Amino acid sequence: MINPRIITIDGPAGAGKSTLAKEIAKRFGYVHLDSGALYRAIGYGCKLAGVNLKNREAVLKVAENLKIELLPDGRVLLNGKDVTEKIRTPEGGLLASQVAQFPEVREIVVKLLRKIAEGKKIVIDGRDAGTYIFPNAELKIYLTASPEERARRRYEELKKKGFNVSYEQVLKEVIERDRQDENRPFAPLRVPERAFVIDTTGKSLKEVLSEVEKLIDP
Ligand code: C5P
Repeated sequence: MINPRIITIDGPAGAGKSTLAKEIAKRFGYVHLDSGALYRAIGYGCKLAGVNLKNREAVLKVAENLKIELLPDGRVLLNGKDVTEKIRTPEGGLLASQVAQFPEVREIVVKLLRKIAEGKKIVIDGRDAGTYIFPNAELKIYLTASPEERARRRYEELKKKGFNVSYEQVLKEVIERDRQDENRPFAPLRVPERAFVIDTTGKSLKEVLSEVEKLIDP
């Protein structure tokens, strides 16, 4: 067992990363950093600005001028406005994944995350937290699950929030995001070295937590 300062949780969309990260934060006294929320905020900011997301220069110009804040309670502010709920849509995920292709956008996010993490015990979830943002993290976890199970979880979560989506639509979106995240040339989604890989297919949060708890000093 170890007492890590930084815990990274990577994996594809819907693997259960943020649920696990929140639970670890609560139980072990860590600050939770949701790196995806920053890409979502930038994607959303670009949409509001009417930018074509394939136009790298236009995206960068907007991204560099956005003020993004990640509050300790997990809320996200974009230019001072609370966008926490607005960015948590299937469209928000795809917008995020598009702007996340650009290395310069990733640099903005990575700088912000490293700054927030200074001097704190943090648990961060994302796609490149253990491979790129914090390669020296003491504990790295990689969560995965079948695309169908991940789509089902997302579908149920979105239904609960009142979104009018179909399972097929969510599955398509999950597969598309996997493709974009795994194939981008810069900091793609990969299993980090030294990571503990947990397949959460068919497992409850409690079961996953009990596997993780064995790794962390209480
Ligand atoms: O985790 P979440 O679903 O909020 O992430 C949204 C998108 O942001 C991902 O599909 C991915 O393209 C991008 N992302 C990333 N690197 C991270 C976190 C998220 O590229 N560390």
